Amino acid sequence: MKKQKISVIGIGYVGLCTAVGFASKGYNVIASTHDAEKAAKINKGIPPFHEPSLQKLLEETVQNGHLTCLTNQTEKAVLETDLTFDAVGTPSRPDGSIDLQFIETSTREIGKALKQKSTYHVVIIKSTVVPGTTQDTVKPILEKESKKKCGSDFGLCMSPEFLRQGSAFKDTMHTDRIVIGEYDKKSGDALENLYKSFYGKSTPPLIRTTLSTAELIKYASNSLLATKISFINTMANLCEKISGADIKTVAAAMGLDKRIGPLFLNAGLGYGGSCFPKDVKALIAHSKNLGYCLELLEAVENVNKTQPLKAVQFCKELLGSLQGKRVAILGLAFKPNTDDMREARVIPIINHLLKECARVTAYDPVAVPNAKVIFKNKIQYATSASECLKNADCCILVTEWDEFKKFEPEDFTKSMKQPVLIDGRRIYDPKEFGGKMKFAAIGLGQ
Ligand SMILES: NC(=O)c1ccc[n+]([C@@H]2O[C@H](COP(=O)([O-])OP(=O)(O)OC[C@H]3O[C@@H](n4cnc5c(N)ncnc54)[C@H](O)[C@@H]3O)[C@@H](O)[C@H]2O)c1
Repeated sequence: MKKQKISVIGIGYVGLCTAVGFASKGYNVIASTHDAEKAAKINKGIPPFHEPSLQKLLEETVQNGHLTCLTNQTEKAVLETDLTFDAVGTPSRPDGSIDLQFIETSTREIGKALKQKSTYHVVIIKSTVVPGTTQDTVKPILEKESKKKCGSDFGLCMSPEFLRQGSAFKDTMHTDRIVIGEYDKKSGDALENLYKSFYGKSTPPLIRTTLSTAELIKYASNSLLATKISFINTMANLCEKISGADIKTVAAAMGLDKRIGPLFLNAGLGYGGSCFPKDVKALIAHSKNLGYCLELLEAVENVNKTQPLKAVQFCKELLGSLQGKRVAILGLAFKPNTDDMREARVIPIINHLLKECARVTAYDPVAVPNAKVIFKNKIQYATSASECLKNADCCILVTEWDEFKKFEPEDFTKSMKQPVLIDGRRIYDPKEFGGKMKFAAIGLGQ
């Protein structure tokens, strides 16, 4: 059977992984972005962000002609393909509610192309959008611009993405489940057939449902994961008040309960990134508009707001005044294996350290260029962990990169001015490190 042609609008983490995924299985994919610099990189086979395992297949699929990226030519991309995935960003507005401007613009562009098409085309919203968006915002724009009728003239689905940055491409190729929200059966059938031809025998459980249920599944999933993190951080904060208590052991034992499970129970400095913070905020705002207050998620969000500041509090407890003190920060990215700094927990930490007049030097294996955009010359950037630690009065471990997990106490004590370590991600053994230096860690009772 001839493979269908796919277009992907918006080529961030989700768009690029979707595009490379289909192209790697022999589909012809046309991606479209507004960002000429990004498109140029992609067309040379270079990922525009750090994402392990994407590089090789991006290079291959661009070289063998299965993937092309256009700039500002969404109409052309849609016209030349059979199905379109819309994966543009859906950021937060200042009040936390979802900003749909990119969805609206891209939908208008897709609609204009549909007007010129004589064949049936399916539009799939892959971006995370609040319940009701596909039905009440996307569909009317598509119909207005195309002068066609949704259902009979073109198809419409909402299929949320569940990838995790850091293992984004692997997750795209081996997802736990597929969710298809469908405007009508014909649209859903078309998307189910595409996914089944893509995944073949390893097609994961596939749920077909309404557009708004699909939209809510994504928010409910991210909200629960965020809740698990804020929950364990709350227990960690309690542990610190209980002599001899250790959150690591609490979490490990809790995780053995099959009803709870071990994942997302790592106490630390809170969640960041481009999804959890904005999705929790967007759902709170959306629910408020519907007349229901999501008190639980408001608490989750509040815990996450104060959690990173614990690093600064520990610093002050161990060092006294931070004025003029040199603080070494290990890890800048919001999590390991990415260079993404969006909502990274290090941002409030560094801002508070600077407010206390500390001198900050930071190191991250890949995120320094993105960090420079945020902190500019307010802090210093080291090119290695050992350079970062040299002459430091204190070190805060913020992101748990593998290279930091290998450190021995001597890696800190040998060059620091004062060996003071704050383990913000619980990667060091308190007995081993606590014996050799001043040591504080999230969730450790004294
Ligand atoms: N990053 C993740 O881990 C992840 C996981 C699951 C779902 N999501 C969701 O997927 C969506 C995309 O996320 P992302 O992290 O890939 O976004 P991103 O911010 O990395 O990329 C979005 C891209 O869309 C482009 N864009 C905006 N308007 C456009 C238009 N009209 N035409 C073409 N391109 C346009 C932007 O230039 C940008 O490159 C969001 O809704 C996000 O919540 C993200």
